[in-house]
Amino acid sequence: MVDASVAKRLVQAIIDNLPEPVPGKRPVHTIGIGVKGEFVASDVARTYCIAEHFKGQPVPVSVRFSNGLGGLEQHDGWSDVRGMATRFHLPDGRGTDLIATTLGEFFVRNVEDFFEFADVAKLEKYERRAWWRKLGDLLQLKVPPRNPYPNETVSVDAGALRYANRHRFAQLGIFQVSLIGAPVSYARASYHAVHTFWVTGSDGARRPVRFSWQPVAGVRNTDPKAVPRDKYLFEELKNRLRRWPARFMLMMTIGEAGDALDDPTKPWPGTRIRVVMGTLTLIKVAEDQEADGERISFNPCRLVPGIEVSADPILEARLGAYEVSREMRGGCPFRWR
Ligand code: HEM
Repeated sequence: MVDASVAKRLVQAIIDNLPEPVPGKRPVHTIGIGVKGEFVASDVARTYCIAEHFKGQPVPVSVRFSNGLGGLEQHDGWSDVRGMATRFHLPDGRGTDLIATTLGEFFVRNVEDFFEFADVAKLEKYERRAWWRKLGDLLQLKVPPRNPYPNETVSVDAGALRYANRHRFAQLGIFQVSLIGAPVSYARASYHAVHTFWVTGSDGARRPVRFSWQPVAGVRNTDPKAVPRDKYLFEELKNRLRRWPARFMLMMTIGEAGDALDDPTKPWPGTRIRVVMGTLTLIKVAEDQEADGERISFNPCRLVPGIEVSADPILEARLGAYEVSREMRGGCPFRWR
């Protein structure tokens, strides 16, 4: 686990970049909605991972969908990373978490990168860039910044692009963020946990893996040319789940020799074996949003026997950072097991 002071500095670096203070709330992924559902592992899941939730019995889950931005404004229509944090509630009262976003790869490799990124990608005045300057960007093989949204006056995006233009490893993640768009529904996006985890199968074999959720309804974004509509995602989810449950497949990709095991900025080749580990059925939006959404404290390192963290420094840093943030906002205490 990273030093407690480093964990505090990580969270402070995020807070320093907020457009407004968010007391009692998450400094990123501030806007979110808690949902209840059930997970059932596939027949083959246990062969690959002996963790309790892959045994096959239905496991109750709590999911919090979120917009990636920090701040109290709910800009559903803006291009933004979306989050899907899932807690599997195990029969003995323990829980295990899986935190994922719509970003396929992260944009920094370690804590030092994160601090440099936070220094460069500061909130700054954001204006429409003249067409001739965009042309200049393209001629220099740089990605030009997007146009501002109505009423958008400040953003970290220009700084993030400057960072990406300087650091090749950051480009895949940051360029995805600028193009990611807005989903028509939280249930119509795919979400990736980006880090490598080690799983142990029923034969005792340990394998490096990466998890992602694929929506059974398919991925669909809003029209990027239309004027963005805000505050539709909660209502859409409530209406959708009133009519019919929404489903996600949990996919697990198995790494091979030579794949990056401790670097979340690096993708794995598309040819890797992917196993369906189970189906998540979302049943209803939680009635008590405080208890079943806002006060939950997810942590990517809350794991159970059968799944272990890799040596990914970002994953290690998140263990402490989420705990610091949880304490600051008064979330429910973290229990390791
Ligand atoms: C050094 C890197 C990172 C730092 C410092 C960081 C920091 C944070 C913090 C402080 C929170 C609020 C936690 C809370 O109060 O409960 C948070 C939430 C979140 N982060 Fe990260 N994060 C990092 C990397 C990532 C990565 C790689 C992912 C992608 C899988 C991710 C996805 C999320 C999501 C989905 C949430 C919202 C979880 C919820 O709904 O409770 N973060 N992050």
